Amino acid sequence: MNQFLQQATEKRESLINSDTNCFRLMNGYTDGHGGVFVESYADRLAVATLGGEIPTGLKEELRSTGKTVYWKRLDQQEKTAPTHLFGPPQETPFPILENGVTYEANFQSGYSQGIFLDQRLNRAEVRRRAQPQQRILNTFAYTGAFSVCAALGGATTTTLDLSRPYLDWGKRNFEQNKLNLDEHYFCKGDTFHWLKRFAKQGRTFDGIILDPPTFSRDDKGKIFRVEVNYDSLVKLASACLAPGGWILACTNCRRLSLEDFETLLLKGADRSMKLHHAAMPLDFAGDDYLKSVWIEY
Ligand SMILES: C[S@@+](CC[C@H](N)C(=O)[O-])C[C@H]1O[C@@H](n2cnc3c(N)ncnc32)[C@H](O)[C@@H]1O
Repeated sequence: MNQFLQQATEKRESLINSDTNCFRLMNGYTDGHGGVFVESYADRLAVATLGGEIPTGLKEELRSTGKTVYWKRLDQQEKTAPTHLFGPPQETPFPILENGVTYEANFQSGYSQGIFLDQRLNRAEVRRRAQPQQRILNTFAYTGAFSVCAALGGATTTTLDLSRPYLDWGKRNFEQNKLNLDEHYFCKGDTFHWLKRFAKQGRTFDGIILDPPTFSRDDKGKIFRVEVNYDSLVKLASACLAPGGWILACTNCRRLSLEDFETLLLKGADRSMKLHHAAMPLDFAGDDYLKSVWIEY
């Protein structure tokens, strides 16, 4: 019983502790089922499949846990919210814990559940780097998880996203961690426009986080494609970077190799800057789709 889930859980024992209760529990073929991914959020399970079926044996294992289980498909054009499969339905947002930081997760919020678990190590590193008196800019911020970590490190944060509901969610994440919202900035709008505005105003940051969608279009219809335009994004960010500052540049664009990504980053960065690639967390072993590069002097 529970052969695959049990084995996958044992592999992740070093991750699960009283400070962290959210992680990827099964990662495709590495854990016995290609195209099947299971994430655990405070003991509730979210299954994602590349096809229209959950393998029968695994489905039974999931049912027998008695836990809340939701399911979403990754292969459909329309990105829909996960649907309830087994166990008690989770119809309201609920807190999850990562490295002692609380975030709000939600199975009703559409395609994504409020946090990208593959960014765990980067969030921890942002928290480690952030210092009091520093200013950290989190662009494409989604629910502001990076900002929360920077603020817990003592920095003053600016959280930037196109979506008002995501910024509000970010504010709730600040409140969950008893951070004072009056000491931080939340900006609704386009990253490209804001970066230009900050540079014009001479406003600089000690750290800037870039994690754009693979493809986007700004309000004037201008298209941004990670594999073509990332250098221009780095260039805009570099113009707002304080001396000695860093940029964290991420992409999960599978079409782009790490080598090509780094070439693009160097094209956009100040020539004297160095790149350092950071690995993905252990629970995502087997598929290095997320490329994270620290750019610094
Ligand atoms: C992949 S998510 C970022 C995840 C986030 N870095 C994290 O780790 O939690 C992309 C986010 O970018 C936002 N977004 C997309 N285009 C944008 C733009 N041009 N300017 C600002 N935000 C944008 C979306 O609303 C979404 O919240």
